[in-house]
Amino acid sequence: MLSKRKINKIKLLNNKKNLRLDKFIDLALYDRNGYYLNKKPIGRKFDFVTSPEISQMFGEIIGVYLVYNWKEKINSKFNLIELGPGNGTLFKDIERTAKILPNFFENANVNLIEINNELRKIQEKNLKYFKQSKIRWSKALNFRSKLPSIIYSNEFFDCFPVRQFLNDNNHWFERYVKFNEKENKYYSINKRVISKKILEYLNKNKRQKIYEVSYSRNKYFEQICRYLKKNRGLCILIDYGYNNKIKNFTLQAIYNHKKTSIFENIGQQDISSHVNFNELIEIAKQNKLQINEFISQREFLIKYGILERKKKLLTNNSRLNKNLLNEEVDRLINVDRMGNLFKCLVVSNL
Ligand SMILES: C[S@@+](CC[C@H](N)C(=O)[O-])C[C@H]1O[C@@H](n2cnc3c(N)ncnc32)[C@H](O)[C@@H]1O
Repeated sequence: MLSKRKINKIKLLNNKKNLRLDKFIDLALYDRNGYYLNKKPIGRKFDFVTSPEISQMFGEIIGVYLVYNWKEKINSKFNLIELGPGNGTLFKDIERTAKILPNFFENANVNLIEINNELRKIQEKNLKYFKQSKIRWSKALNFRSKLPSIIYSNEFFDCFPVRQFLNDNNHWFERYVKFNEKENKYYSINKRVISKKILEYLNKNKRQKIYEVSYSRNKYFEQICRYLKKNRGLCILIDYGYNNKIKNFTLQAIYNHKKTSIFENIGQQDISSHVNFNELIEIAKQNKLQINEFISQREFLIKYGILERKKKLLTNNSRLNKNLLNEEVDRLINVDRMGNLFKCLVVSNL
């Protein structure tokens, strides 16, 4: 649960004014007792399973993509940065794959960006045999190095808090959170938007009835784009998200593999939202980066060889369970499973 201090803070804020939805999510996820600072969320036993945990082939395909791009377009000392490495599984698979080109890691300054102390410990344990270069851990990206960078992430950008707006009879409202002392529970209310700047932004697309936006996510990505523009490099991010209008808000809470309300199990459950890729692409363009890829996870994995990899694994090792491998690949690329919902965006300045 959230600390008493934070709950009191929420109540206090509520007494004075309502608490904005993104601020509430920020407390639930990133408070000292929030979900992302303490919990071990990833894995079959925990709240959710991510692509690298489903199949080693996911990380292998990304590994080949990174190694190829480095060789072709950088081929010198560089920063290799993973955002939110979870259990370290994706890194491990990339590391194994990169052995096809040993000087990839010889030239890499590895930096893992992890905010969760528990996960950092797991990463240290899982990566203790990695000897190809030194791994540095940080809680936040720092932009001091002048070297080119390769930055990658899976299911990282969905973690950022969002604000929600809805249009009713040509008036925009924003979702806020209130706490009911008597019933001891949270609920949401809608407040009319009066800020001219925000109204201007919302009215850009008049036909849209709802809008979900994460300013902190956009800001984080903007910093990455500026950094790449200045020092060269490439960023590949994979996340669940959309590039069309949405009909429903995408904010969701997951507790023990089940969807719940964001007002339950506060601090104990994951809260995430789908990434609005149009906004990220717009930010990359404004920073004059190339958009190398914007395709579904299915298209990306097939384009860069997951089906051939599966075949090779089965040919080389007859003891591997064919049905299991087929199931893993299906889960990653089937359009009714993760194939379409997850998108892959690659932007670069190389
Ligand atoms: C949904 S998990 C994905 C983990 C991993 N990439 C995977 O695919 O299995 C999100 C990861 O990002 C980390 N994280 C979330 N918000 C963060 C932030 N603002 N800064 C650094 N790490 C963050 C979490 O602790 C976790 O490691």
